[in-house]
Amino acid sequence: MVSPRIAIFPGSFDPLTNGHVDLIRRSTHLFDRVVVAVLVNPEKRSLFSVDERLTQIREVCQLLPESAQIEVDAFEGLLMHYALKREACAVVRGLRSGVDFEYERPMATMNAHLAPTVETVCLLADARYAHVSSRLIKEVASLGGSIDGLVPTSICERLLARVRAETATRS
Ligand code: PNS
Repeated sequence: MVSPRIAIFPGSFDPLTNGHVDLIRRSTHLFDRVVVAVLVNPEKRSLFSVDERLTQIREVCQLLPESAQIEVDAFEGLLMHYALKREACAVVRGLRSGVDFEYERPMATMNAHLAPTVETVCLLADARYAHVSSRLIKEVASLGGSIDGLVPTSICERLLARVRAETATRS
């Protein structure tokens, strides 16, 4: 029997954006199974907890036509240890710009050193989302700007509630 081709789509996803969703969908067209893997990083302050992010991402992915191919999980430590444990053949990353490329290149090279059997596959971000990052989404939302169409609707509502709560706590 031929083993399924598994790809890991790792990230912080704080929050998941429509750019991420587009990359997840496109990855399912290239691989049998795509594992969306949320990094557990206690040192990084996040807007949503890992459990909240897992729930949000699962809810969004369940509604995709490709849902049967998608799994949502969390991982700690080295990405390549996780990728090998999951018997993945690839890690998928999105590129929005040359800045992303320069950020990804040393990570991909280090990851190839750690696990030569796991290929890093970079997909170009769709032009609709080339300006979208989780950091900018949080900044725009917290300053009252529109993030319509850039974040899944279910997450958008929770994001606005959370940034409002944070702003109220600070003032
Ligand atoms: O969405 P992000 O925050 O840009 O994702 C970065 C991520 C999670 C892919 C990267 O930080 C990572 O792989 N962290 C796990 C620790 C690790 O493997 N570090 C060595 C990378 S060469």
